[in-house]
Amino acid sequence: MIRTGSVVAILLLAASFFQPKSEDLRAKGRTLYSSLCQRCHGETGDDVGYPGISPLSGITLRIPVKDIPTLSAPFVGRTFEGREAEALIAHLETLKGEKGFDQPGYLFSPYLLEKKHGETSHYRIIDTRQPTEYQARHIPNAVLWKPTASADDTHKQLAALGVAGPETFVVVYDFNGGPQAAAAWWAIRKAGHGRVAVLDGGFQNWTSQAYPVSRSASLFAPSSYPRPTTPPGSEPVLCQELEEKILVLGETSGSEGLRFDWRKTRSDNGLLPASDLRAFLDSMGIDVSGRYHLKGDPRESAYLIFLLHLLGQSPQVSSTGDTVCLPRQNQAY
Ligand code: HEC
Repeated sequence: MIRTGSVVAILLLAASFFQPKSEDLRAKGRTLYSSLCQRCHGETGDDVGYPGISPLSGITLRIPVKDIPTLSAPFVGRTFEGREAEALIAHLETLKGEKGFDQPGYLFSPYLLEKKHGETSHYRIIDTRQPTEYQARHIPNAVLWKPTASADDTHKQLAALGVAGPETFVVVYDFNGGPQAAAAWWAIRKAGHGRVAVLDGGFQNWTSQAYPVSRSASLFAPSSYPRPTTPPGSEPVLCQELEEKILVLGETSGSEGLRFDWRKTRSDNGLLPASDLRAFLDSMGIDVSGRYHLKGDPRESAYLIFLLHLLGQSPQVSSTGDTVCLPRQNQAY
C-alpha cells in the first residue's frame, strides 16, 4: 500500500514537474497581471497610453526571462520570485499582441523600435535594402546587410556587425516588411540566432509615422560571438509520408499548384492581423497538415515561413529551403 502511495506521489510530482505551464500557473499569472500591470499595460499587454511605456507581447523573446520581474519592479514597487515570477511570465507568454499572433515577438512595431533604437548594446537594427537606399536615409543606428549564401556567412556577418551574442535582439527591415526582410530573418534564424524580428511594414511604415532617420553610416565594433551549435529551424522534414502539394510563390506562369501572393498579406498598416491572415491562407487552400513543395522566389518562401512562425506553427523546412511541412500536431494555427 505504502509503496503504491509513494509511486503515485512520485508520478504526481513528476507530472507537475513536466507541466510547469499548467492552466493553474497561467491563471495565477493572469490574476497578478490584472491586479498589478493591466492598469498601465492594458489587457492585451499592448496599450501604450501610459507615457513612455513599451508593449509587452513577445517580451519573452525580446528580453531574458530572468530580467522581466526586475524591469517591472519600479512600476509596481515590488519584485517577484519563485512560483510568482513563473506565473507572471507564463501569463506574459500568452499575450498575442495587437494583431493577435501566437508568436507576436517575431514582429516589431515601429512604435517599439522608436523606443529601442537607441539601446545599441541590446538591439541591433539591420537594413536589408540596397546600399544606395541605406546611404540616402535609414533608421538611426541601423547597419547595412549583405545577402548571405550560407549559415556560416550569416553568422560571420552578425559578428562583424557587432551582434554580441545570443541575447542581442536583432530587428531586420526592408522597404515594406516583405520577402526581403523575411529572407534575412530566416537566414539569421538558420544561423542559430533566435532573437530576431521583422519591422512591421518596413521603412515605409517607419517614415509614414514621421520617426527619425539618419544619413550617417552606423558602425559598431565587431564581436567574437561564437557560432551557435544547434541552429533552430534547420530540422529535417519529417512529414515525408504526406502527399506533397506544389505551392507557387510570386508571379510565375503556368497553372500548376496552389498560389501564394504575399502582397495580399499586407495593408497600409503593415501585416494583416492574424485572423485575416488565417482566412487568407485558408482561401488559398493552405492547410495545417500539408507538405508543400515551394516554387519560385526563395525570399517569398522565407516570407511564408516567417508568417507560419508568427501564427504559432513550427514548420519543418528542408535544408534546401524548398520543401516545407506543417506537422499535424501543431494545433496553434
Ligand atoms: C504605472 C504604470 C506601469 C505599471 C503598473 C507596470 N508597468 Fe511595466 N512599464 C511601464 C513603463 C512606462 C515602461 C517603459 C519603461 C522603459 O522602457 O524604461 C514599462 C516597461 C516594462 C517592461 C520592459 C519592457 C521593455 O521592452 O523593455 C516590462 C517587462 C514590464 N514593464 C513589465 C511589467 C509587469 C510584468 C507589470 C506588472 C507586474 C508592469 N510592468 C506594471 C509602466 C508600468
